[in-house]
Amino acid sequence: MKKKVLITGGCGFLGRHFAKYLHKKGWDIVVVDDLSTGLHPKKWPEHLKVPFTFVKGDMRAYLENHKKKYDLAIHLAAVVGGRAVIEGKPALGAHSLELDSSFFRWAAKEKPSKIVFMSSSAIYPVNLQGAKGAVALKESMVDFKASFPVFGMPDLVYGWSKLSGEFLASTFAKHYGLNIFCPRPFSGYGEDQELSYPTPAICNRAVRREDPIVIWGSGKQTRDFIYVDDLIEAIISYLPKLKGYEAMNLGSGKAHSFRKVAVLAAKYMKYKPKITNLPGKPEGVKQRYANVSKMKKHYTPKVSFEQGIKRVVEFLRSKHEKNRRVD
Ligand SMILES: NC(=O)c1ccc[n+]([C@@H]2O[C@H](COP(=O)([O-])OP(=O)(O)OC[C@H]3O[C@@H](n4cnc5c(N)ncnc54)[C@H](O)[C@@H]3O)[C@@H](O)[C@H]2O)c1
Repeated sequence: MKKKVLITGGCGFLGRHFAKYLHKKGWDIVVVDDLSTGLHPKKWPEHLKVPFTFVKGDMRAYLENHKKKYDLAIHLAAVVGGRAVIEGKPALGAHSLELDSSFFRWAAKEKPSKIVFMSSSAIYPVNLQGAKGAVALKESMVDFKASFPVFGMPDLVYGWSKLSGEFLASTFAKHYGLNIFCPRPFSGYGEDQELSYPTPAICNRAVRREDPIVIWGSGKQTRDFIYVDDLIEAIISYLPKLKGYEAMNLGSGKAHSFRKVAVLAAKYMKYKPKITNLPGKPEGVKQRYANVSKMKKHYTPKVSFEQGIKRVVEFLRSKHEKNRRVD
């Protein structure tokens, strides 16, 4: 019999890629999404369209009314967005925590065999991510299992909400005997990510051949990028080993500036624009990158930063050309 997976928020960026990957592996997929920001399955990019059961609605209502045994539950429903949302709309982070709380209460009752709760690099102490003296962020810098729980000030309400979500995961795993994986992705990106995120937004400026290409903040802020296919494969391939609560950084271990994203995107568009910055705009922490030694014991990303940015540029360029033809 086919194994069954539930994906909450499965019409969002990561959900679309989980669905494609799991379909290829022969899973029976149920996606619940209220489409508050996600894409209706009919509007997914062609290369991601796969068959699954789609339930349009609030995941909280679905979880209350459906008593189905799942082999895997992947909880992605959340209200996220780029830096403008994280800094400008703290109430949305609190709302996401409410979704996490109902998800874990459902999981305690229905006991799916394996669970993925999407945590984030935003849970790490921001004082370790300054312009000077930033360090590679390691899983043990947030550790609820230590005799004195270890953590510092996370990245705004979004970071607190993910930190609290992970604490729920660790508590529920122990108390209810659940197997919960908490990946901590750094900057996941890919072709079809919303343009409110910096990587596709900057690539899109290059595709439009803007000159100058403007970057929010100083432009020098760095992030650790991981291409979406690597992110998904690293998670799913880890699940057979999962026992209890476990967290893992997902990244490349390298810091690249958003300015570098612009330089690369312009190179792939074969032009040389000026690259300027907008100091008044939110930019988040100055430097963020992962210690990926735990991930590397189990998975090595296949797509380099350069290849990934090239794929995003090529995807956006062909979309742009199609739209121009329709005009
Ligand atoms: N994309 C990344 O690189 C990244 C990095 C770290 C953490 N995460 C986390 O992974 C998760 C998924 O990220 P994403 O980039 O796919 O986000 P996304 O915004 O693209 O997807 C979230 C989905 O949840 C849906 N949703 C919101 N509220 C809902 C509700 N009440 N009921 C049902 N569906 C609802 C939205 O319509 C959307 O489709 C989030 O929790 C995010 O914080 C993502």
